[in-house]
Amino acid sequence: MRLLSQSSLTGQKVLLRLDLNVPLTSDKPPKIQDDFRLRSSIATINYLLNRDNRVVIIGHLGNPTGPQAAHSLAPVVDRLSELLGQEIAFAPELFSSSTQDQVDNLADGKVIVLENLRFDPGEGANSRTFARRLANYGQVFVNDAFSVCHRLNASTVAITEFLPSYAGLLLEKEAMVLGGLLRHPAQPFVGIIAGAKIADKLPVIKNLIRRVDRLLVGGGVANTFLAAEGLTVRRSLVDKEYLTVAQKLRRLAGEKLILPTDFVWRDGQIMDLGQNSIELFRTHLSHAKTIFWSGSLGVYEQPPYDRASSAIVRLLADLPATTIIAGGNTADLVHRLKLANQMSFISTGGGATLGYMAGETLPGLAALG
Ligand code: 3PG
Repeated sequence: MRLLSQSSLTGQKVLLRLDLNVPLTSDKPPKIQDDFRLRSSIATINYLLNRDNRVVIIGHLGNPTGPQAAHSLAPVVDRLSELLGQEIAFAPELFSSSTQDQVDNLADGKVIVLENLRFDPGEGANSRTFARRLANYGQVFVNDAFSVCHRLNASTVAITEFLPSYAGLLLEKEAMVLGGLLRHPAQPFVGIIAGAKIADKLPVIKNLIRRVDRLLVGGGVANTFLAAEGLTVRRSLVDKEYLTVAQKLRRLAGEKLILPTDFVWRDGQIMDLGQNSIELFRTHLSHAKTIFWSGSLGVYEQPPYDRASSAIVRLLADLPATTIIAGGNTADLVHRLKLANQMSFISTGGGATLGYMAGETLPGLAALG
């Protein structure tokens, strides 16, 4: 993989793929709820500008089918300008003579963002024609959108056929940190896998169970394991089609897989882990040298059901271990408690990070060589 950090790119027009997919409020105009991905992208933009490059940013927001005002990147550009501390131009059409003019006349040290790539079906179809048209906007391509690398899209895969392509600083860091976790984690290595649905997490559990010393399971993911053991979870969320797989996995994992033992209930549903479970998790985590955590342990958006998750965030913040946080909800929890600086790394990826940790080859990474 060619790395931007090892390159001497200077005086180029750089087509830069970022993940601009941030959660927006339903206000009019919409506000950005969480700008973590944007903040994480600033280093690469500055790196390029400091070396006299011009930067043409491409990205997506949501999953629109055709142009939709609600998915315009305009609010994202405003926030990105604030974070960068300089005006960023915006091209409200991906392809038009005015966009071509704006890109052609981009001055040294300047940045432009093009409208949402997903307004064009060529993006999702990994269209070579679409990628070639995008490639006309730059002399080199930098992919800094690790969190989109699980998508076989024109801006992550086909584009690399048309321009010399580099991994950006954030992408490099994500791949290095997560790759290190899979290849040579300092032990004891403890994983925490939680969140709502077991389907999203099973591949990660299967891949991690061989590598970890303990795997602590919480949230809706735990419910299915508990139900598979014949324990009553009453009206709690259970993925019935995964009961047999959960049972097999439990047998395979033996004592490595740790399930919660008590819960906070509401109307017959598990809302959070109980105090004994928090203590059980604390015991396993206290001696860990490496911790990987993805998914909230309870319904953290509805306090007081954030108790277990918050307790574990605080614990991790105090531990000397390497702590890697993944997934939107888990990252959100850490940010809400203002403890992001106390973690070793917070991944910007959702599906991409889960795919990577499940041992899958991400098309966007593979395309970078
Ligand atoms: C994400 O939010 O995980 C990335 O931006 C990819 O978005 P997608 O899941 O809509 O492809």
